[in-house]
Amino acid sequence: MSNVTRRDAIRAVGLGLTAAIAAGTAKVGVGADAAANLANPAMVEGAEAWKYAVVDPKQVADDAYENYSVGRCMHTTFKAIVENVADALAEKDPLAAQQMKSFPFHMMRYGGSGANGFGSLCGAVNAAMAAIGLFVSDGDTRKALCNEIGWFYERTLLPIYKPEDARDEQDYPQTIANSLLCHISSGKWAGVAQVKTNSPERTERCSRLSADLAQKVAELLNQNLAALNSADVAPVVSLKRAQPTATCVSCHDKSGTNADMIGTSACSECHPDYDVEHSAR
Ligand code: HEC
Ligand code: HEC
Repeated sequence: MSNVTRRDAIRAVGLGLTAAIAAGTAKVGVGADAAANLANPAMVEGAEAWKYAVVDPKQVADDAYENYSVGRCMHTTFKAIVENVADALAEKDPLAAQQMKSFPFHMMRYGGSGANGFGSLCGAVNAAMAAIGLFVSDGDTRKALCNEIGWFYERTLLPIYKPEDARDEQDYPQTIANSLLCHISSGKWAGVAQVKTNSPERTERCSRLSADLAQKVAELLNQNLAALNSADVAPVVSLKRAQPTATCVSCHDKSGTNADMIGTSACSECHPDYDVEHSAR
C-alpha cells in the first residue's frame, strides 16, 4: 500500500472501499492522485471539483422548498442541489453518489438569516455560490457563474417559485432586492407584503426564494456542462458588471484609480446620492 496513506485508508472505510483500494494498488500500483480519487470517488480526476451530472431544475427547486424548515435557506438550497446531482449519478457512479450524500450538510445551517442572524449575505446566495465552487474548478467559469447568481438575485423580482398548491396564485408579493444582503432583501419584501419579519409569511417567502436560487444554480450548472460537451452551447461568460455600477467600480474598486473600497454590488442601494458625474464636480 505504498501510495495509499493510512489516513486515506481510514477515510475509505466508511465507504467500504478499503478492499477496492488494496486490490487496485496490488494490481496496477495506482499513483497518489488516483488513490486520492479512490478515497473520494466524488472528485473529478485531476481537478479540484466534484463530478456533476444534469439535474432537473424544477425538482431541485421543489426539494429546496419542501425541506426549508430542516435547516433554512443556506442548508436547503445547498442540499437540494448536491442531492439531486447524487441522484443523477447514482446508477452510473454509485460510489460518487454515496460520497455526495454523505456531505456534512449540517455545516450549512450557519447561513440562516444572513450568516448566523447577522443579516449579511443571503443564505440562499451563499449556498448557490458554495455549490458552484464545489462543482466548478476553473476560476473564470466559477466567477462567471457566481456573477450570474449575484445579479439574478439583485435584479430579479423574487420570489418566482410557486409551490404545487399555489401554482395558480395571483399577486404574490415580489421585490427587487438590489442587494445580496438578507437585511435589505427580506426587509424590502416584508415592507411590500406588509408583514413582520417574524411572520410565517416571511418564512414562506424565504422558502420560495431558496427554491429560486437552487433552480438557478441547477440551470447554470446544466448549461455549463452542456457547453463543455458541445460547441453549439454558449458557455456562461458574464464577467462584467451592469451599469452604472460598472463605471463606479472602474474608479473605486481595487483595480480602479481611487481604489478606496472593495465590492461590486449595486452602489445605488447605499449611495443613492452619488451618480457617475460626481468625480467631475
Ligand atoms: C471617474 C472616477 C469615478 C467614478 C466613475 C465614480 N467615482 Fe465616486 N468618487 C470619485 C472621486 C475622485 C471621489 C472623491 C474622492 C475623495 O474625495 O477622496 C469620489 C467619491 C465618492 C464617494 C465618497 C467617498 C468618501 O470618501 O466619502 C462615494 C460614496 C462614491 N464616490 C460613490 C460612487 C458611486 C456610487 C459611483 C457610481 C454611480 C461613483 N462613485 C463613480 C471618482 C469616481
Ligand atoms: C450595503 C451598503 C453599501 C453598498 C452596496 C456600497 N456601499 Fe460604499 N459604503 C457603505 C458604507 C456604510 C460606507 C462607509 C461610510 C462612512 O464611512 O461613513 C461606504 C463607503 C464607501 C466609500 C468611501 C470609502 C472610504 O472610507 O474612503 C466609497 C468610495 C464607496 N463606499 C463606494 C461604493 C461604490 C462604488 C459602491 C458600488 C460598487 C458601494 N460603495 C456600495 C455602504 C455601501
